[in-house]
Amino acid sequence: MAASLLVFFLTLKMFKLWLTLNLPISLQNWNTSTKSSCPTSSMSLIKSLTEAELRIREIMEKLDQQIPLRSFTHVNTTTSAAHSITTILNPQVTYCRGDRLDILLEVRDHLGRRKEYGGDFLRARMSSPSLKAGASGKVTDFNNGTYLVSFTLFWEGQVSLSVLLIHPSEGASALWRARKDVHDIIIFKGKFVNGTSQVLSECSLTLHSSAELCKYLFGGEHEVFYCVKPQHMPCEALTHVSTRNQKTSYLTAKEKSLFHMSKVGVEIMKDLKHIEVFQCNKNENVKEKCRIGMKIPFPGGYMLQERWITTFCNQSQLDTMKINGCLKGKLIYLLGDSTLRQWIEYLPNVVKTLRFFDLHGTGSFPKRLLLDAQRHTQIQWKKHSYPFITIHLYSVTDDGYIPLEIDRVLGDQNTVIVITFGHHFRPFPIDIFIRRAISIRKAIERLFLRSPATKVIIKTENIREMPIESEWFDDFHGHIQYLTMKDIFKDLNVGIIDAWDMTIAYNAYFLHPPDVVIKNQIDMFLNYIC
Ligand SMILES: *[C@@H]1O[C@H](CO)[C@@H](O)[C@H](O)[C@H]1NC(C)=O
Ligand SMILES: *[C@@H]1O[C@H](CO)[C@@H](O)[C@H](O)[C@H]1NC(C)=O
Ligand SMILES: *[C@@H]1O[C@H](CO)[C@@H](O)[C@H](O)[C@H]1NC(C)=O
Ligand SMILES: *[C@@H]1O[C@H](CO)[C@@H](O)[C@H](O)[C@H]1NC(C)=O
Ligand SMILES: *[C@@H]1O[C@H](CO)[C@@H](O)[C@H](O)[C@H]1NC(C)=O
Repeated sequence: MAASLLVFFLTLKMFKLWLTLNLPISLQNWNTSTKSSCPTSSMSLIKSLTEAELRIREIMEKLDQQIPLRSFTHVNTTTSAAHSITTILNPQVTYCRGDRLDILLEVRDHLGRRKEYGGDFLRARMSSPSLKAGASGKVTDFNNGTYLVSFTLFWEGQVSLSVLLIHPSEGASALWRARKDVHDIIIFKGKFVNGTSQVLSECSLTLHSSAELCKYLFGGEHEVFYCVKPQHMPCEALTHVSTRNQKTSYLTAKEKSLFHMSKVGVEIMKDLKHIEVFQCNKNENVKEKCRIGMKIPFPGGYMLQERWITTFCNQSQLDTMKINGCLKGKLIYLLGDSTLRQWIEYLPNVVKTLRFFDLHGTGSFPKRLLLDAQRHTQIQWKKHSYPFITIHLYSVTDDGYIPLEIDRVLGDQNTVIVITFGHHFRPFPIDIFIRRAISIRKAIERLFLRSPATKVIIKTENIREMPIESEWFDDFHGHIQYLTMKDIFKDLNVGIIDAWDMTIAYNAYFLHPPDVVIKNQIDMFLNYIC
């Protein structure tokens, strides 16, 4: 056993070495500008796969196993919230703050028959509206039609429990299948400028066209943006891009019936009354101060009186003086989408001395810069480059492809990078998201080699509106990305701000969470860096 494992690892090592050695040759041999020269023999196909591509395949295969195809003949055989049964395990007469409460969920179909497989997309939350309190519950899928839903009773008072069936497993499976086939759901238009003339041209992340193409390599050979080359315009003349959403669905009529408004996010725990949680004089465990690199559990905190309280570290209450002192001399890079842009818009409320500096940006979502010249604090936000979805023309000249932005940072103990991406990737094949996450991870590793003191914080994707008009932006896709991202970044020395967990706790079903959530994300951020 041990010997065969050793042989396996040696083979793997040699294979990787062989890959590294062969890589430069294979790239030379593979002339990307011609279609006929694609490698055909399996040998050259293996050669063309970089380690990153192998990792992407590995992750995708793992996801396929987690979300198997579930065909169904009738809605009757899909999961029904109304027929599913929940039981509190080991019910107590009195619950104490800090206790765990477990619920066994047995899912049934619309005819009341037990289901024998899992995969339902569920969301568990506990709340006390009068205390402005909320927290996520943890769902464990046993893949046999039963689930364990665990809540930690973080606060005292009257607590309601909720488990929502967001999509039955058959619906989740249909979304996953559809995402594999997805193409041309988001149509990109590029604006090219030559002197006074402007031309709009079709662009895409995967363009199958016989026309002459402009090819923009923004992450080596594997991340490419294409535009049909306009006449009398060089490829470099691309200045702005906008997008349009096709109203196409890849779901069958039968599958679509699972996504009717009345069927999305249905409460399963309808019969449970409140439970009463008491203080019971239990001592709280002493917690370490929050710092970067801590492993964060799920749930990693809860909302109480609208304040986010972490469960895995001791947050400090930072006053203005502390914050001002902490931000002195700091260079902060916010790289991502508009959910991080919300931070830079909100920050002047937290730090009154920060002023926006006009960067002469054009189009929507230009680069943003906040300065406190006296304290030498600089905070900038840049959008994360393709794919970026908006109907308004946005400038591509100040785009920030995250791996490249990280490579440009020298880094020191006063440099902070915050990263978020996800929402704009939902309507594209998952490998585009995975490839970007791996590229970002590699850039962070390079950064830590030259500057281990630089602080890197990853903000995960948040939940959004439900139900949603277009299946492509569904939280199911976001959840897969969220789990994948946590997995890819798990053993890096980075801080995590779990926006998914937080927005469930805050019941914030918005693409752009309300200010109270942003405020608490920034508080968490300051706790990591101060
Ligand atoms: C790639 O193929 C094109 C078209 O056949 C040719 O013009 C070009 O020189 C080739 N480039 C390389 C690097 O072989
Ligand atoms: C679905 O269930 C309903 C209610 O039990 C029943 O009337 C109907 O015939 C069933 N349809 C199919 C196709 O099984
Ligand atoms: C489902 O799986 C869990 C965990 O393996 C097991 O404890 C439980 O008995 C199973 N339930 C059924 C109905 O098979
Ligand atoms: C720009 O447009 C002019 C007028 O159509 C054309 O002559 C020129 O070649 C164009 N420039 C480039 C670099 O394509
Ligand atoms: C958190 O830190 C403060 C100040 O250092 C300390 O008084 C408090 O007991 C700590 N709380 C926990 C739960 O560790």
